[in-house]
Amino acid sequence: MNDHVKTNSAGPIIATVMAFGLAYAVLRYHIVGPVPWKDFPFFILNKGISLSAFILLTCNFGFGPLNNLGVRVPEGWLNARKAMGMTGFLLVLIHALMSFLLFKPAVYGKFFEADGTLTLLAGLSMLGGILAFVVLWAYNLSFQTFLREDQAFIRFITSRKFLLFALLLGAAHLFFMGYSGWLNPAGWHGGLPPISLLAFSVFAIGYVSNLLGRK
Ligand code: HEM
Repeated sequence: MNDHVKTNSAGPIIATVMAFGLAYAVLRYHIVGPVPWKDFPFFILNKGISLSAFILLTCNFGFGPLNNLGVRVPEGWLNARKAMGMTGFLLVLIHALMSFLLFKPAVYGKFFEADGTLTLLAGLSMLGGILAFVVLWAYNLSFQTFLREDQAFIRFITSRKFLLFALLLGAAHLFFMGYSGWLNPAGWHGGLPPISLLAFSVFAIGYVSNLLGRK
């Protein structure tokens, strides 16, 4: 027997988060909402994937600081952080590729002006999303051994200041995309909050934990 095997809850956490993300998207848009089932394999799956990715990444950044703040995060959850971060990154990559294919006025009317150009809010939202994606990519690179030796890069990218800034990019993506709908609960399908608001609330908890608990 090896007493040094670390408990790691990555499998069950990732499975639960993904099941929740997909179930929420299906419930809000197909079951209580108006979207036809033919749109499940791409439009709605993209929403479920982006929500799951966002929650996994928030857990990745948030568990350590929460633990520092005295919330007892189980050992297996702390050990799951690397797998959650990697899975979150890959899910965001899928989300970005799917979004590029879907990105047209017929699908996202509210992102476009009548002349087919982007609205200001859509431009700000997509800028936030793309910058957040590039920063996530840089985080992943920082785990590669060839960059591990570049101490200045690692120190910068894992610094508290940079992290607190980087998290805001993901929040900007959600905020500019969604806040007009957040303020109109009467328009929520089945009374269920939009995915962007749900993800933003998860972000807010993660951000406050980082603000207070990251060393
Ligand atoms: C190249 C980068 C990205 C692009 C082009 C992009 C594009 C989009 C688009 C078009 C939407 C609207 C989707 C919809 O409502 O059906 C969206 C929503 C969303 N994105 Fe991104 N995104 C990017 C990066 C990210 C990143 C890095 C994250 C997570 C950290 C993320 C998380 C989300 C979430 C949670 C939603 C909300 C879905 C909803 O309210 O329905 N995205 N993104």
